[in-house]
Amino acid sequence: MAVIIIPNAYSLAYEGKEPEKAVIEKTPAAVLKGTLERPGMPSHAGARELRGALLRRGNLARNLLIRGDNLPVLKTLLNEKNSGRLKNPDNAPGVRLIYIDPPFSTKLKFKNKKNEDAYVDVLTGSAFMEFLRRRLILMREVMSERGAIYVHLDWKKAHCVKTVMDEVFGPENFLNDIIWSYGGRGAKATASQFSRNHDIILLYQKKGRVFNRQFIEKRILKGGPGYSQDPSGRWFKTAPKGDYTDKSIAGLERQNRVYRTKNGNVRVKYFLREDGIYLVEDKLVGDVWDDIPDGMHLSSVEKTGYPTQKPEALLARIIRASSNPGDIVLDAFAGSGTTLSVAEKLGRRWIGIDSGALSIKTIGKRLGSIAASKDLDDPKKRYARECSGFDEYAVDFCHTPKARNKG
Ligand SMILES: C[S@@+](CC[C@H](N)C(=O)[O-])C[C@H]1O[C@@H](n2cnc3c(N)ncnc32)[C@H](O)[C@@H]1O
Repeated sequence: MAVIIIPNAYSLAYEGKEPEKAVIEKTPAAVLKGTLERPGMPSHAGARELRGALLRRGNLARNLLIRGDNLPVLKTLLNEKNSGRLKNPDNAPGVRLIYIDPPFSTKLKFKNKKNEDAYVDVLTGSAFMEFLRRRLILMREVMSERGAIYVHLDWKKAHCVKTVMDEVFGPENFLNDIIWSYGGRGAKATASQFSRNHDIILLYQKKGRVFNRQFIEKRILKGGPGYSQDPSGRWFKTAPKGDYTDKSIAGLERQNRVYRTKNGNVRVKYFLREDGIYLVEDKLVGDVWDDIPDGMHLSSVEKTGYPTQKPEALLARIIRASSNPGDIVLDAFAGSGTTLSVAEKLGRRWIGIDSGALSIKTIGKRLGSIAASKDLDDPKKRYARECSGFDEYAVDFCHTPKARNKG
């Protein structure tokens, strides 16, 4: 029997949905003006236009912090990519990794710790969907072919945004919905439903991806149940042989990794590292992340006071997994600059966009004092290096694309 596949058998329909081609072609590009240099901050933008600054160097040589609505700024970045000026170290054009933590349609107005206005999150219904969809379309265009995008959401809108992402990126490019289980915020004893203790981070690729597997260190006291020593003194634990074929088991046998129980059942041995009184196990990170506490539990060194700030540990995992040193990382809803700070610490190049003045001020301060912030590997230590510098721009005005000559 022949299987008939109907492409695009269904699509999203809502009021105000613009055709994808129109979003790409008709969105005006922002003309960006260099803003004043920050005291103590290496910035070379001066009053030049972004296009001029990048052209001179032939590629994105410095990090960029841009204030303005991200829609026309993304169009400018797309023009830069199409002109060959956004390249990764492997010469692939475009942004390698995008992380966004957009407004979630909470209908709230956010302020910082000093009660200064940060941003408003008031779009609802189809207006919210279309706001995000247009930006996601341009983000996909700005991405490199081997690139990934993480979209941070919660229970309110994750299901709607996933349908939009499927349409924009293609369901075949969906990789994971990561559950960030950030721990208890103290569920009320009177609660009449399960407490909500997780966010959802949707991960899609463009056509391919960079992926570096991530591990978490688990420390166990030596001698605990389930851990044994072989005759040479090496510690190991065992697991059922699962899907291993007889051929693979024969290979493991040669490496001394097969364990036979008293009943003759075959199990696979996993050797562990030793550190003093502990055994150290490197556990592969899956799609449920429950080892990173939420923003409310950040240390005072990490807290910027900006609302909805995400932990550096969360971004460190994302950036390490989906980019390599020197790659370009973009956060188009940069907020307090968590992505930018972590990208800087991990030796990636970065582009941050935010429309809010308080966000840009917070990011400038955060990167200006990055040396005093926490080291990513050892939170007891300071990072102790200055920021490599960035060029700072603001949207001056927008170029409306010329109408196509139909003749
Ligand atoms: C949830 S916060 C991001 C927090 C960030 N992940 C962090 O760790 O600090 C969302 C940010 O998106 C910004 N934003 C909202 N609409 C925007 C737009 N159209 N263009 C650029 N930035 C926008 C807001 O100013 C706000 O700073």
